[in-house]
Amino acid sequence: MTKLSVNINKIATLRNARGGNLPDLLRTALDCERFGAEGITVHPRPDERHVRYQDVLELKPVLNTEFNIEGYPSEKFIALVMDVKPAQVTLVPDPPGVLTSNAGWDTIKHESFLKEVIAGFKSCGIRTSIFIETDEKMIRNAAKAGADRVELYTEAYACDYTFNPEKAVKFFREAAVIAHDSGLGLNAGHDLNLVNLKYFHQNIPHLLEVSIGHALICDALYYGLENTIQMYLRQLK
Ligand code: PXP
Repeated sequence: MTKLSVNINKIATLRNARGGNLPDLLRTALDCERFGAEGITVHPRPDERHVRYQDVLELKPVLNTEFNIEGYPSEKFIALVMDVKPAQVTLVPDPPGVLTSNAGWDTIKHESFLKEVIAGFKSCGIRTSIFIETDEKMIRNAAKAGADRVELYTEAYACDYTFNPEKAVKFFREAAVIAHDSGLGLNAGHDLNLVNLKYFHQNIPHLLEVSIGHALICDALYYGLENTIQMYLRQLK
């Protein structure tokens, strides 16, 4: 079973464009759950240009599915996550002003930092996942740093899928096997959509969760949120 966690950052971006509370982020999150989402993901960034820290605090008590908070583990982010205690935190090595996550962790260079941060989250009972590329050494070192899971950064898969699906998925399949072999749970995300998700799911063993935002919210403009979530869920059957 691969869970679908819906990233609701784009809903917050739309709300922030006008300064009011439309669309209502909390209501949308609850509707995503009602329509079948098995988790809700947020990615509060330092400039709060989409999901704000206050949103994260308000979401936690109302959600019924797995709450996943992504972000760079700055002091402020760590304090927020410790306070909210989500089911999962996903650590991303984002520079502050970046448009969207664009790289996985170097788990060798940052091993001691990651070890310390992960140990802190673990002591609060929070599952910790690390955003990562398909490099074997980085995956094995994520386990060494104490991560519970890795989230494979799938942009390269999504780009290459258009030209050669089998070639696109090959490194990700191998990475999935390595992660499993290292005792890590496996998540994936970034640029997954209705075109490339089914093939990814069919070819990647041990896939526990995908988190999808941009394409899913764009699809919802055409198909509606309920239909869209059901369509994504069908790709994961
Ligand atoms: N995983 C991580 C770590 C991300 O930063 C993002 C984008 O916020 C996603 C998954 C989801 O990517 P997308 O919006 O392309 O579905």
